[in-house]
Amino acid sequence: MENRTRELFSLPIPFIRTPGKQRNGGNGQNKTTKAMWGNVDSFIHAAAEWVLECIVRYDGGKSFDGGFQREIKNNISKIIWADSRGFSSTINRFPALCVPRKHNLPKSECPSYEPYLATPTAQPQTTLLASVLKVDVALRLSGGCDAGRIGKEGGFCRFKEEYNRARYPELFTPVRRVSVILPMLTCGRDETMIVPRKSNQDSVRPKARRNSYVLPTYPLPPLQDTLDTYLNCLKHLVTEDQYKTTKAIVENFAACGGIGELLQEHLAKRKENKVNWVYDWWLDNMYLCNPLALPVNSSPGMVFPRQNFQDEGDQLRFSARLICGILDYKVVLDARALPVDFARGQLTGRALCMEQYYRLFSSYRLPGQQKDTLVTQKSNVMPEVEHVIVACRNQFFVLEVVINFRRLNETDLFTQLRKIVKMAENEEERSPPIGLLTSDDRPKWAEARTVVVRDSTNRDSLDAIERCIFLLCLDEPSDVEQTDLNMALQIMHGAGWHKNGANRWYDKTMQFIVGKDGLCGLVYEHSPAEGIAVVQCVEHLLCYIKETSRKLVRADSHCELPSPRRLRWKCDPEIHRYLTSAAGKLQRLIENTDLNIYRLKGLGKDFIKRQKMSPDAFIQVGLQLSFYRCHGRLVHTYESASVRCFQDGRVDNIRSATKEALDFAKAMIDRRASITDSKKMELLWAAINAQINYTVRAITGMAIDNHLLGLREMAKELQMDLPKLFTEKTYLMSNNFILSTSQVPTTMDGFLFYGPVVPDGYGVAYNPHLDHIIFCISSFNNCKKTSSTMFAKAVEKSFKEMKDLCVKCNTKAKQCFLGNGTHNVQNGRRSHQ
Ligand code: COA
Repeated sequence: MENRTRELFSLPIPFIRTPGKQRNGGNGQNKTTKAMWGNVDSFIHAAAEWVLECIVRYDGGKSFDGGFQREIKNNISKIIWADSRGFSSTINRFPALCVPRKHNLPKSECPSYEPYLATPTAQPQTTLLASVLKVDVALRLSGGCDAGRIGKEGGFCRFKEEYNRARYPELFTPVRRVSVILPMLTCGRDETMIVPRKSNQDSVRPKARRNSYVLPTYPLPPLQDTLDTYLNCLKHLVTEDQYKTTKAIVENFAACGGIGELLQEHLAKRKENKVNWVYDWWLDNMYLCNPLALPVNSSPGMVFPRQNFQDEGDQLRFSARLICGILDYKVVLDARALPVDFARGQLTGRALCMEQYYRLFSSYRLPGQQKDTLVTQKSNVMPEVEHVIVACRNQFFVLEVVINFRRLNETDLFTQLRKIVKMAENEEERSPPIGLLTSDDRPKWAEARTVVVRDSTNRDSLDAIERCIFLLCLDEPSDVEQTDLNMALQIMHGAGWHKNGANRWYDKTMQFIVGKDGLCGLVYEHSPAEGIAVVQCVEHLLCYIKETSRKLVRADSHCELPSPRRLRWKCDPEIHRYLTSAAGKLQRLIENTDLNIYRLKGLGKDFIKRQKMSPDAFIQVGLQLSFYRCHGRLVHTYESASVRCFQDGRVDNIRSATKEALDFAKAMIDRRASITDSKKMELLWAAINAQINYTVRAITGMAIDNHLLGLREMAKELQMDLPKLFTEKTYLMSNNFILSTSQVPTTMDGFLFYGPVVPDGYGVAYNPHLDHIIFCISSFNNCKKTSSTMFAKAVEKSFKEMKDLCVKCNTKAKQCFLGNGTHNVQNGRRSHQ
């Protein structure tokens, strides 16, 4: 046995196996010890770490980057996925993780540097496995009878009993054994499945920490910290008198033995009993209790890269491929086997909560009079019937995607979509544009719904929509030039009820829009997930479409498929009145929407990083300057900060209108000669550092908005009179976000956008690329004070000035970073200790 291989095999694997101690019944194999996995993620993590450890040892101590580790984890997830779908037993093969020998070449010399998932033949003899595949390490996940033996070419170590059926039933989801369910995996022995290339999230370098996937629960900040920060955040945004009043109210609230302490104690108890003490309250407050109509006010839109469709056939082929991609993705979701995301930026390497992804295709927002309900299908098991709803010419059709235990392939889906388009052309069969009801204010739609469900036909139709996986909206051509703006408007609200505005069902989480004219995108109901998860999913799907259109050999349709079902609606005059009212309101909302998509060229992440600054902080300070330029003041600002490093974490708020940002804005706008460029630069650095301090506070769960919300809701729960802190003007104003911002990065040429959250405010989604930044700015036309075009112009001027200032004066760019502690930053970056 080769020395290195012997060494590899003798590695202690304490949590997996006790080599050679016990015998395992008839076949004389080593018995494995029971591993204690907290959950599937921690299993994947431990397995990947073990593989890496083996490789590192085998390779003489050479270490690997985080991307490589992630790819290994990716593969392990896929193996579990395959295994859980009955793949190995179906075709008598087992999946193995193989790390090709070439891993020890420098990356530059090895363009196809990728571990791969292989499907070696049955009877897994180690020697065969190792020599055929020329692997150094193979990891076998499912139980088997073979011993860990050493092949000539490499080693094979068993990783047995890593989970058991009773504890991890989700890994053993019963499935119909239909090979077509796994088109990518049911490949022949000599075919290998190449792991998808690194995505945006994949290029991070996580610090390998055992069990870091068992995420911490959401923390509860100390009361006094939150109250001090609250005062700090508003001092420069309110009058002196107002500040004095608020300070007294806060002090009263915080008094020893007072109401603040009582509420905090109750929150601490709640924290003990919940995975995430704020989640339910946050969800209600942010979405479910908001009565405003979903389009523009709540549901973000995303424009995909424009497609070049020559005819309707192209539109439908793209749609069929998109459905296939989603169904494949859903298999991974159903197995809860998505590779874990890792934080970038300030918390680089921290594992993130994946729950949002699992809600994307299993949720529905039910309208309510007082508050909506987010219905989330919890089961992982594939339901009996799976269908997609296709909207075409304001009609809704049920497209079954599994028929006779067989998942439809692309050709089948294309055929079915063609039938739907034909059926939708039939004017006689047309129902009223019932989807318009979902664009109404929530209580109004809830009221209309009670009328709609009186009829059993309507109930059946509603049920089909509410249970579907997602909506595919086949839109008519928009008949306007396809600028960024026109595409965004069409996605955001369908450009009017007489165009595609009624070809939607806003309650459904994911609505993919594929226009005849090549305009494609998505409008999504926001309550189940943030834009980041949605963008990741969409980018995966678009890659899938690109890859399959290159590779896929089209399969024939095997059998005669039943026609898709048209959903019928019985609409009495009462429902027609609701429809007329909803159509009018949608039209007014559309006319009131002022959107501007501005591509800032010549400045992107690259430049900002070269200044040794955080791109996000730079952009936020730039937005504050832009706002000041337009309105001569700063306002309470919301920036979404992900708290996904905690269980069930969604977001908290980074209050970007800092005192330092105000000082900088004033210095830039006031034309006093006494303020030199170097002084301005100093102020810019101070503003950036203040922004990063707050960012770190927020993403580590220590920001104030969720905490204050918790204190308020706890008072309600205890049926107390609301403390004055939550009823006075300052608090109410501090929650009126005139500037509501969010970073939503994409790797491809798409962009995400949303509307303002208050009548006199702006919504600003920004998407930083290496050499440019896309700003999607929205406001309402009926507000005289705001204008998206004015804001876009201010952005252009402000960012140019900031860039010029940095080029001229940023001497710190040349120095290296120093820092000391979590909340301390220097040169715009938190130090990692
Ligand atoms: N010098 C050089 N580079 C720096 C730097 C500095 N001083 N500070 C940061 N960088 C780098 C980071 O390392 C990171 O590098 P990467 O591109 O290789 O990963 C990059 O610049 C970006 O970091 P930064 O600009 O600081 O931002 P971030 O990625 O940490 O993002 C938030 C900050 C707040 C946007 C992010 O934490 C977050 O919460 N995002 C979620 C927002 C959200 O939910 N949006 C959807 C709402 S629907």
